[in-house]
Amino acid sequence: MTSRRGSRSTTSFRRTFLVFLVFMEAVQICSGVRAALRLRKKSNSADDSEDEELQDEMYNDAIYDKASIFEQGETHDFLQFLRSIKYDHRQVPDDGFDGPVHVNVSIVVSNIRSVSEVTMDYSIEMFYRESWRDPRLTYSREKFKNKTEISLHESYSNFLWHPDTFVPNAISSKNPRRQSITHRSLLRLRNNGSILYSRRLSLILTCGMDLTLFPFDTQLCKMGFESYGYTADKVKYFWSSGVIQSLKLHKIRLPDFQVKEAYVTSRVESYATGDYSRLYVCFVFNRAAGFCFLQLIIPSTAVVITSWVSLWMENETSFQDMISIILTITFLLFSYNEVMPRVSYIKAMDVYLGVCFCIVFLSLIKLAAVKYMRQRLLITRNLEIWKSGNLEIWKSGNLEI
Ligand SMILES: *[C@@H]1O[C@H](CO)[C@@H](O)[C@H](O)[C@H]1NC(C)=O
Ligand SMILES: *[C@@H]1O[C@H](CO)[C@@H](O)[C@H](O)[C@H]1NC(C)=O
Ligand SMILES: *[C@@H]1O[C@H](CO)[C@@H](O)[C@H](O)[C@H]1NC(C)=O
Repeated sequence: MTSRRGSRSTTSFRRTFLVFLVFMEAVQICSGVRAALRLRKKSNSADDSEDEELQDEMYNDAIYDKASIFEQGETHDFLQFLRSIKYDHRQVPDDGFDGPVHVNVSIVVSNIRSVSEVTMDYSIEMFYRESWRDPRLTYSREKFKNKTEISLHESYSNFLWHPDTFVPNAISSKNPRRQSITHRSLLRLRNNGSILYSRRLSLILTCGMDLTLFPFDTQLCKMGFESYGYTADKVKYFWSSGVIQSLKLHKIRLPDFQVKEAYVTSRVESYATGDYSRLYVCFVFNRAAGFCFLQLIIPSTAVVITSWVSLWMENETSFQDMISIILTITFLLFSYNEVMPRVSYIKAMDVYLGVCFCIVFLSLIKLAAVKYMRQRLLITRNLEIWKSGNLEIWKSGNLEI
């Protein structure tokens, strides 16, 4: 009697455990759905930023309405100055000798968000500063109240030549626009004609990821800067050196990655339209495997151990138990694949989960074989007993093997 009660309690314990595992899986599926929702939200927000860019264009058209500009105070002096030197903002500045315009770039990364292997992209918020020298804008200090540097309104960027910088691997962006309190820009002019143009930008950038070693992988994500229209012999980009650091990172906390390293490089890219000077920022992300340990590795290991426990207690294990264990691990596999991108190669995690599945499946086969053999043995034993005519033992049903 006691052994029977014990067996019932172990069975109920096992059931509870399985229910617990299934519950955990349900939680995971929910998180998968949440990721999908986030994805949709992200695509919506991408639409929003396009709207913003449309607004930007409308704004740029409006700004050429000169009357609105004269309403601002110091502006008048500067516009007079531009007119007196017959400045044309469409013309590339040149130093007299026929070299490219040197654009010095420096970046402060204030945040990196949502590095996603599902959409293979990441978001970044930063201050992008570029400075170059426009010899036409060299002014004598007397003209501007003895100032060596004047701060110009951000709308002046439309009246001055500035490099047509673009980010080749950006999907969407938020740029400075009128009366935005999150994204603004700054424009300064020194008396030797050097201009500083700084903007706060938010970008979503693509990043091709190799997930072979998932979840112990390291990803290299890049961000490029390049002129869209001016080839390397017209405009050349440099990382600023000396006092101003070319790249500065604020403290960045990502939920599932660590920024292991960040560095800058530059190179010349060749296209059909010519050679372009391009700058790169490279981020090396190290995945923190803690999430995967909690959500996948520990549950699947637990399922495998449960299947062994069932093998040690063969007498009390029914096929239903084994099948529910198999269902649990199948569930794990499916829910894991739901949150991963569909890649055509095998990831480290696939190998691990595959091995877990095989072990559980072999346990089922082993259980079936043992049960089958035991049944055969029972039948032959019974036959022997029946043949020997010892029917009393047969009837009492007290057979044990
Ligand atoms: C760009 O950087 C170089 C090297 O540090 C420096 O000589 C040059 O003056 C800088 N140009 C501007 C416009 O700041
Ligand atoms: C500018 O500086 C000169 C001498 O360096 C001085 O005579 C003049 O008064 C100054 N002008 C202003 C507006 O401060
Ligand atoms: C312009 O002058 C400032 C200081 O007055 C200096 O730091 C900067 O390097 C100069 N730029 C160029 C291109 O000469």
